[in-house]
Amino acid sequence: MASGNRAQFSSRLGFILAAAGSAVGLGNIWGFPTQAASNGGAVFLLTYLAMVFILAYPLLVAELTIGRYGASNPIRSLISVAPKQKALGSAVGIAGMLGVSGILSFYAIVAGWFFGFLVGPLLSAVGMDAAAAWLEGFSIERNLVLMLLFMVLTILVVRNGVADGIEKWSSRLMPVLFVLFILMVIYTLFQPGAVDGLKMYLVPDTSHFSPDLMVSAMGQAFFSLSIGVCTMMVYGSYLRKDADLPKTAAQVALLDTGVAFVAGLLILPAMFAAQHNGVQIYNEAGGLLDGDTLVFSVLPAMFDTMGSAGLIVGVAFFALMVIAALTSSISMLEVPVSCASEELNKDRKTVVWWIGGAIALFSTVIIFNFGSLFGLVISITTEYMQPILGLIMALIAGWIWKRNQVLEELRQGNPEISESLFWKVWPTYVRVVCPILMALVFLWPLFK
Ligand code: PHE
Repeated sequence: MASGNRAQFSSRLGFILAAAGSAVGLGNIWGFPTQAASNGGAVFLLTYLAMVFILAYPLLVAELTIGRYGASNPIRSLISVAPKQKALGSAVGIAGMLGVSGILSFYAIVAGWFFGFLVGPLLSAVGMDAAAAWLEGFSIERNLVLMLLFMVLTILVVRNGVADGIEKWSSRLMPVLFVLFILMVIYTLFQPGAVDGLKMYLVPDTSHFSPDLMVSAMGQAFFSLSIGVCTMMVYGSYLRKDADLPKTAAQVALLDTGVAFVAGLLILPAMFAAQHNGVQIYNEAGGLLDGDTLVFSVLPAMFDTMGSAGLIVGVAFFALMVIAALTSSISMLEVPVSCASEELNKDRKTVVWWIGGAIALFSTVIIFNFGSLFGLVISITTEYMQPILGLIMALIAGWIWKRNQVLEELRQGNPEISESLFWKVWPTYVRVVCPILMALVFLWPLFK
């Protein structure tokens, strides 16, 4: 299936950077390190790596392949691989769209906080302390203003479409992010106390292993690779036919996992360096502070102790977070926008404002009911919707989609694929092994 003049990424590197831009986000730099820190460090790291390799990667290939075959929005792509199960395809596509909109609604709030911590120190540096304190404190008005700002940024990029908007920005911003990151890690590792964090992160203590840890590591792997909510399916639909899908997916997964690994290398040592400087990182119960508290109080406190360099390091860190969040949020908004503009035959430039506006409205509802809704939306979308939808897509690819069509689609990027180890293993693997593994991960905690 090919649709003649459908927008495409203009280069393979552009696609990889855009897909990696979707994958690399708050999940890697904020979610992964704080989860690793509160789940025993190295043991979580190893379980996470195993989850990426044995579950997330094969499902990423499934989602990308369905998308490229369909060369359309997720609903149509899913229907094109399962034409006899139209209702199933539509239901999964719509669920994915709702899921990703839910993710964007909390993501924009968190990204807004990072925006506040980026601008705050700059304002204090020029003497505007009251404005800085407002940006860094917690209030409904501040959450609202920053969320709206972030949503407008996201809308403006998506408004310009694939090559001009998404690809241009992702491929410009991603390399900046990598370079900034490495510099910060080098800086942090030279701080006193940092070695303790390094030890926790790299030397496994198996007493921390538990079935719940596996569920968290699986959820983190799915969230981090943007799986199950049609983001990768939409990006796959813009991918050129001559791209080798398993290889491209491996590159995206490696980049994403690499950034998460390096983020751990930064945050865990930084925590202990901060503790060395008298900053509290444990709560009264002896547990580690929550992810929000860690990033938003411990890190700025650590930047403060760095003297004048602290301002630069802090601004660089929060700029990095906003960049990473933006390349992810644009991939989220692209899902409902591509569906609505193609299904309703409406101009992308108009649709993007309506959908972005509706999601911002939902974010507003969350902001006004923060205590009850924020955690709930995160849990429904990332702990349940992403793994379950990801699994359903793998089942569609494995059981319903005609095997010769799958092979044909994969062959376009690699004529020898039918001889490869990948093709010998993958079809059976997504049909049988992935569902069993996932069921085990979900059910194991129930039988402890
Ligand atoms: N993978 C992104 C991150 O790590 C989040 C994301 C989830 C993006 C789902 C798109 C879809 O921050």
